[in-house]
Amino acid sequence: MTRVLLLLPTATYRAADFIDAARELGVEVVVASEERPILADTMGDRAVVVTLDDPSAGAAAIEELDARHGIDAVVAVDDQGVLVAAHAGEVLGFPHNPPDAAARTRDKAAMRLALEAGEVPQPRFAIFEDPDDVPSIGFPCVVKPSRLSASRGVIRANDADEARAAARRASDIAAGGTLLVEEYVPGDELALEGLLRDGELEVLAMFDKPDALEGPYFEETIYVTPARFDDATARDIERVVTDAATALGLREGPIHAEVRVHDHRVWVLEVAARSIGGLCARALRFGAGISLEEVILRHALGRDLGDLARESTASGVMMLPIPRAGRLSAVNGQDDARAVPGIVGLEITIPIGREVQPLPDGDRYLGFLFARADTPDEVESALRAAHAALDVAIT
Ligand SMILES: Nc1ncnc2c1ncn2[C@@H]1O[C@H](COP(=O)(O)OP(=O)(O)OP(=O)(O)O)[C@@H](O)[C@H]1O
Ligand SMILES: [Mg+2]
Repeated sequence: MTRVLLLLPTATYRAADFIDAARELGVEVVVASEERPILADTMGDRAVVVTLDDPSAGAAAIEELDARHGIDAVVAVDDQGVLVAAHAGEVLGFPHNPPDAAARTRDKAAMRLALEAGEVPQPRFAIFEDPDDVPSIGFPCVVKPSRLSASRGVIRANDADEARAAARRASDIAAGGTLLVEEYVPGDELALEGLLRDGELEVLAMFDKPDALEGPYFEETIYVTPARFDDATARDIERVVTDAATALGLREGPIHAEVRVHDHRVWVLEVAARSIGGLCARALRFGAGISLEEVILRHALGRDLGDLARESTASGVMMLPIPRAGRLSAVNGQDDARAVPGIVGLEITIPIGREVQPLPDGDRYLGFLFARADTPDEVESALRAAHAALDVAIT
């Protein structure tokens, strides 16, 4: 039987969606996660422990597993597993990204240097270690830790004092390590979801992010597809993201790129060697209704991808922000939110009673709202109306 190994970080939102996709394809799943394997209860000996921080050790564990069970593909479900997947792909001979390319996507300083070498348009930047000594690159700027994700520790600063405070905070959140300061790029932000095959980029979807993301913290909220940009801009984005993937050395599998468009120019914020995070992929359907997870598994297994055109309806997702720190005591108004025309789903992903923390420290969303409608504007309105119907009680 065909067997795929899924690398599941402990905090992943996506285990169920990948497992459903595998079932749809008639493929057996082996899960690898850190510490006690996720789903160990139901998966038995098809759940293994793999260190995601030590790619060579992780790849060696997967090689052993392959010798026992025979694995046909390794798929990293989220960012944390991309390095192990790259190493394992190399060892086992699956289509894979070169390990050093995958490593560049996990380190914002290394990414900036590679994009610079490839002359890809991006914000001016400086890399530094001492939070009390922030290099001056002009204002406003954005300070961020090199090795975190989910916008944790990403802070805008408008002058030197703010920059120093931001650097200290970013350094605390990351528990030390390399920092970056970048020119703040104004304009509209959008995300490109793509699939690389032998270095060629196939655009699967473009999302616009209609909420102003102006800082000081950058909380992701609404994603709407198709993105409301003209065709020329869309082509520019595709070209620049292709150049970015090439500069990073990425060749196989999903990418999630974030860009800003300002004055008709495209700036790369970053490119990740994974698909869209959280439960956001549920906003996408391709061809005869297949999920993004299924597209990714088919690619990893070398199967026919079929029709990769996204469905014709507009679609969107809102990552529900955590309004403040405390204990989540209730999320009221869920029925009203679900009743808003266009809303097709609501998932609260934090259990009631749990401690919650907003950005820039936290890295979890309260949940996800999904909408579908004839136009992107209607999708956006539905998401906003449903969000307004929710009353989040934090004590
Ligand atoms: N140089 C910049 N200019 C303007 N905005 C920026 C800049 N850098 C980051 N941002 C904003 O902060 C957000 C998060 O930054 P970045 O993508 O670097 O961090 P991240 O931790 O990888 O976030 P995520 O995992 O959510 O993508 C961006 O999506 C963007 O809105
Ligand atoms: Mg990002």
